[in-house]
Amino acid sequence: TNISIIGVPLPYGADRKGVDLGPNAIRGANLHERLSSLGYAIEDLGDLRVHRTLPPPPTGEKLKYLDEIVRVNTELCSTVAAEMGKGRFPLVLGGDHSIAIGTIKGVLQHVRRLGVIWFDAHTDVNTDQTTASGNIHGMSLAAVLGYGHADLTSVGGADAKLLPENVVIIGARSIDPGERAFLKAKGIKVFTMHDIDRHGMKQVMEEAMDIVSKDTDGVHLSLDLDGMDPWDAPGVGTPVSGGMSYRESHFAMELLFERNLLVSAEFVEVNPMLDQHNKTAVAAVELIGSAFGERIL
Ligand code: ARG
Ligand code: MN
Ligand code: MN
Ligand code: MN
Repeated sequence: TNISIIGVPLPYGADRKGVDLGPNAIRGANLHERLSSLGYAIEDLGDLRVHRTLPPPPTGEKLKYLDEIVRVNTELCSTVAAEMGKGRFPLVLGGDHSIAIGTIKGVLQHVRRLGVIWFDAHTDVNTDQTTASGNIHGMSLAAVLGYGHADLTSVGGADAKLLPENVVIIGARSIDPGERAFLKAKGIKVFTMHDIDRHGMKQVMEEAMDIVSKDTDGVHLSLDLDGMDPWDAPGVGTPVSGGMSYRESHFAMELLFERNLLVSAEFVEVNPMLDQHNKTAVAAVELIGSAFGERIL
């Protein structure tokens, strides 16, 4: 496999400084060396251009920084689609989780029947109708399913959509009331922390992989570092305690590699400004290593 690394230093979906430093924090944790030593040919395309400063949105705005988020995601969508067109594996580094819109819409141009594993403390299925924060990183999964503001759902063409039966969310423990209703209405499978406690990561991942691989032609991994417990990944903007442990997260990545389902992946929400010793970016690179075949022995 040839891997194309795409950095997206976008902070506006989280409306918090520092997550724009995520791509370089991850590179600085020896991402290239880690992947090269596993035998991959990698090309780092660098970072997409993002405006450094924008005027703050008015208070109560339900779609903060919409235009810049749409612009960057549209560019990300074409970049991801172009790399996949060359037969390469896009590895996208965030940036906040709103970039899942561009990544997934780009992948959908090549893999119409796509499965998605959404590893996250949150479920990111708000819309401008349900959001309390106005932060678009809490709306990205809804957008790729075709729900929310038209500027978000039409990135890369409104016709390419993810189907709810091909998505699973893993690690959720903070779900807003409007999101709960949405997940239920669409029948989206959520493995909460409770499910991981009860059944263990092995059974959760096996069920999850069965669901996302059924009647699909490839799987995308959208991994929000806040899915991990903040003890192991403190450098995130919206931490929620009681998350997936270091070993559980690694084991999930190892199981994913064994099934050989992935066609693309993204690692998002790394905020080195909220971190010490770049711990969260180091964790991200370790998870990437496991997802790409690293083994202890
Ligand atoms: N549900 C909250 C919101 O919509 C938090 C979302 C956090 N999302 C994330 N990708 N970290 O504002
Ligand atoms: Mn999250
Ligand atoms: Mn299916
Ligand atoms: Mn998220």
